[in-house]
Amino acid sequence: MAVLEIKTYPDKILKEKTAPVTEFDEALQKLIDDMIETMYSAFGVGLAANQVGEPKRVLVIDVSSKEAAIPLIVLINPEIVSMEGAMENEEGCLSLPGYTTVVKRAEKVKVAGLDRKGAPIEIEGGGLLSRALQHEIDHLNGKLLIDRIGRIKRELFKRRHKKAAAAGK
Ligand code: NI
Repeated sequence: MAVLEIKTYPDKILKEKTAPVTEFDEALQKLIDDMIETMYSAFGVGLAANQVGEPKRVLVIDVSSKEAAIPLIVLINPEIVSMEGAMENEEGCLSLPGYTTVVKRAEKVKVAGLDRKGAPIEIEGGGLLSRALQHEIDHLNGKLLIDRIGRIKRELFKRRHKKAAAAGK
């Protein structure tokens, strides 16, 4: 397994919609293993394949904690089937280092997709799992959390990012 480089804003690949996986071959298995390794090494709770430069519909999520043992999730070609309720929480992203903001999400979500071998699976989650599923599926659709906040906050983010980039940070 290898730790891959995580693409950060404003890398163009983060804005592109990813392509469905059609081959469940060795290359896919390696990509999944590398994504898991990369997510853990960055202390993230989820990662989408385009964040490591692969524009494919693959995501990994691990929202387990001391309090809740939730198994590692690998989802291929995920689609949201249903959403329920609403919640607002602070959210961050490995592709937006050092930035967090409050994002409104559905409280519960049901997602259908395939496992790493290509077998159909369905995942239902609330709270942090629901948030992570929506966040990572957004990535696969070319959306970042800054696309989910108000225009003024987004402009503020962009301005701050430009300033930091100009200062070489
Ligand atoms: Ni993210």
